[in-house]
Amino acid sequence: MSTFYKRHFLRLLDFTPAEITALLDLAVALKTEKKQGTETPRLTGKNIALIFEKDSTRTRCSFEVAAFDQGARVTYLGPSGSQIGHKESIKDTARVLGRMYDGIQYRGHGQAIVSTLAEQAGVPVWNGLTDEFHPTQLLADLLTIREHLPGRPLQGVKLAYLGDARNNMGNSLLEAAALVGLDLRLVAPTACWPDAALVAECKTLAQQNGGDITLTESCEAGVAQADFLYTDVWVSMGEPKESWPDRIALLRDYQVNMALVKQTGNPQVKFLHCLPAFHDDQTVLGKQMAEQYGLHGGMEVTDEVFESAHSVVFDQAENRLHTIKAVMVATLSPGA
Ligand code: CP
Ligand code: NVA
Repeated sequence: MSTFYKRHFLRLLDFTPAEITALLDLAVALKTEKKQGTETPRLTGKNIALIFEKDSTRTRCSFEVAAFDQGARVTYLGPSGSQIGHKESIKDTARVLGRMYDGIQYRGHGQAIVSTLAEQAGVPVWNGLTDEFHPTQLLADLLTIREHLPGRPLQGVKLAYLGDARNNMGNSLLEAAALVGLDLRLVAPTACWPDAALVAECKTLAQQNGGDITLTESCEAGVAQADFLYTDVWVSMGEPKESWPDRIALLRDYQVNMALVKQTGNPQVKFLHCLPAFHDDQTVLGKQMAEQYGLHGGMEVTDEVFESAHSVVFDQAENRLHTIKAVMVATLSPGA
């Protein structure tokens, strides 16, 4: 585990398959300790900066609770209220925060920003989501997959992701599949397929690691015998709201609904979603979409699937805490 000490966590391909396994194993140990009430603080006296240029519930709360559980303190820097991005560059911000904090989380726009932060800060920087990647989410997803397929290795697990595969989740699923050897199917119209160079690189690695990566427009082919169905919002944070009509037109046939669940042919198939999800009319946007586009009962996933026994989304959400804690402990504690 000491190979992680003082390293950044910016994207999954920066790590080896063995390192991803080690992080998941550490997360399991930390989760067990917390559940048993025997958690040992390994980050006592550490100070953590949390930069959020986009909204968050799970990621922010996971970093905060993980830090508190481990004896560290946090400062939250939200989209407004600091000089970041308005009067001060990321490079200067990194050099200031690096003098005061032991670790920095960044959620925001381009991957180049979090890379600059990492180059300049002199302390570990963790990517809490950029337009391109969401690596801490994938650690939670892999842990959840492990928990719901006990005794089975991650190699060869069939995961069908439906929806916008060009976004941070599509890219990070590719990288995860490459490293742990998932049988990943990205099921989307070609307009929503990820960068071909990243696909090629990840497909080669996935095959070396006992898995495969397939891109298909066909739901029927993509979900056959899937162990997991996964989807994400059709328009991500930072994209213009004008994207919605076109994206709905492109993706409405890729909704995860009960017919699609049955189409897998696997009665045990589980449903994953990084959340937040548009699965009902209970949010302002969900209500608006339901009225405007007739998407009652859900958008990327129906309420019926979201609330069904197939859905493990809240196990997945909880695992954000344990896996983010593992990343912080591994990179900040020499003895972890
Ligand atoms: N899944 C996820 O990153 O959730 P938040 O946007 O609430 O952090
Ligand atoms: N693709 C989504 C993920 C949210 C966790 C977004 O970037 O908004």
